[in-house]
Amino acid sequence: MARIEPIKTGRLELNPVKDSDAPGIFETRSDPDYGKYTGIPTYQSMEEASSYIQRLLGGFEDGTCFFWSIRSNGSYAGSICLWNISPDGREAELGYDLLKKFRGMGFIQEAIRGVLDFAFAKAGMERVMALPCIENIKSVASLESAGFFKVSQEGLYARYEMWPELYYKGKAQE
Ligand SMILES: CC(C)(COP(=O)(O)OP(=O)(O)OC[C@H]1O[C@@H](n2cnc3c(N)ncnc32)[C@H](O)[C@@H]1OP(=O)(O)O)[C@@H](O)C(=O)NCCC(=O)NCCS
Repeated sequence: MARIEPIKTGRLELNPVKDSDAPGIFETRSDPDYGKYTGIPTYQSMEEASSYIQRLLGGFEDGTCFFWSIRSNGSYAGSICLWNISPDGREAELGYDLLKKFRGMGFIQEAIRGVLDFAFAKAGMERVMALPCIENIKSVASLESAGFFKVSQEGLYARYEMWPELYYKGKAQE
């Protein structure tokens, strides 16, 4: 089973989430707009962020999730994760968010690529999927610009997938 590792991209540092990320996670998730497309209830207290982090740390131990903070010049900017990891470790679901002040700068595309490098080159994954709401235009556009392929749609939710052949073919063409 692969272990989570820090990831560096051009402008960002992705670090395995830790207790001290609670204020950043609370700031993101206490925003009343946050639940609109994520379906996550608005956080009311820092304790909710702290206990969420404790659950994530358990996932690091049993290999069911990888969760990184996204940092720009040392500041917490958001988070990105591979979760719902299949028992054989070959498939995972991608999730991500940015604090509002770090949006609109292409950070999430950069973080997604960093995590895909990790998933395919280090963790030996064979498929990464995402299930965005199709009304979440920026999320869908971020996945498409990272090269994800839309495989299906059910109601307002689309299933996007990426696998190593598609990813490295896209990289070769960059
Ligand atoms: C989803 C999220 C991480 C995207 O980050 P962002 O910094 O806001 O996204 P960007 O500004 O880089 O925009 C992403 C893409 O959408 C495009 N875009 C932005 N507004 C658009 C619009 N109105 N119509 C079409 N495309 C649009 C951008 O041009 C960009 O395309 P590119 O990747 O080809 O450059 C961020 O909005 C967020 O944290 N949202 C709340 C949590 C969330 O929804 N998470 C995802 C759950 S699936």
